Amino acid sequence: MDINEVLSVTDKFPLPTMAYRLAGEDERLDFYKTLVDYLKLTEHTSGVELELGHWNTEWGKVLDRVRTYGPSIDNLRPNYFRYRTLRLDGEFVFTNDPFFEHHAYVIFLRLLFSKYLSGQNKIVDLGCGSGTSLFLLDQMKIGTELIGADCIEEAQETVNIIGRATTSNIRGLPFNMKTLEGGEALNLAGAAVITLHSMEQLGKDYNNLLDFLIAAGPSLVLHLEPIEEFYDSARLFDKLALTHHRQRGYLTGYLTKIRKLAAQKRIEIFAEKRLEFGSTWHEAYSLIVWRPI
Ligand SMILES: C[S@@+](CC[C@H](N)C(=O)[O-])C[C@H]1O[C@@H](n2cnc3c(N)ncnc32)[C@H](O)[C@@H]1O
Repeated sequence: MDINEVLSVTDKFPLPTMAYRLAGEDERLDFYKTLVDYLKLTEHTSGVELELGHWNTEWGKVLDRVRTYGPSIDNLRPNYFRYRTLRLDGEFVFTNDPFFEHHAYVIFLRLLFSKYLSGQNKIVDLGCGSGTSLFLLDQMKIGTELIGADCIEEAQETVNIIGRATTSNIRGLPFNMKTLEGGEALNLAGAAVITLHSMEQLGKDYNNLLDFLIAAGPSLVLHLEPIEEFYDSARLFDKLALTHHRQRGYLTGYLTKIRKLAAQKRIEIFAEKRLEFGSTWHEAYSLIVWRPI
């Protein structure tokens, strides 16, 4: 992204103060050892496919907060943004700010939305969770119809509260990315579709959704997800993330499939990029932007 494009966003939405330090050599070795030991312990734990019920609780907590205090970037923040050891540019860094990752998430979204979604009318966020994306799009005055789709009722209701609080055209709708239940009501023809840390939950079961997206004819599809193809398993730093990725059962083979579809001229890829940032465990910040042909 050109520096002037970045400045045009950060001038309107100033960056918070964010500080981190690099790990010292001993600290770094200790930390790698701790992670390797931990990943051995979690080797046989269950992955995301068994955890759908967990989202009722997660989004229920956010819904209670938003009902009481109203929507804001802080009130919509999911509780899983809490790590003080982060992955940045191929190394671990430490911060005292438990919301450092969330600040970065919001900055990435603003920049990506400005670059890829400006001028779009309808924007649909699949697996929208608490709907931070819709709140940001509304602040940035991007999109005239904003839909947050999720299979969890508490998430849909939170999005509806954002809609009422902002008086913009923002709605929550039910949609299951696996079964495609609720898909027709989304009317994706010509819309921009985004998935942010949500398709990760599908593991290897993304083919139905992908076929559905290609057939529905959106103008653009933007993913910010953990993408295993970007990890280099010969590097310990990446191997740790890849091990976690596989233990959790996140997206597998998705970028390979997207590249194959592009080679068959069924889709066109605009961007594929690892942003080199993540939580302690992995990097859920890889960008893929494409559209069906
Ligand atoms: C890690 S959260 C990300 C939420 C939101 N996109 C964000 O960035 O804050 C994963 C989301 O995927 C949703 N999800 C998981 N499986 C789903 C499915 N089969 N259909 C629709 N949504 C699903 C969860 O309800 C949750 O909102």
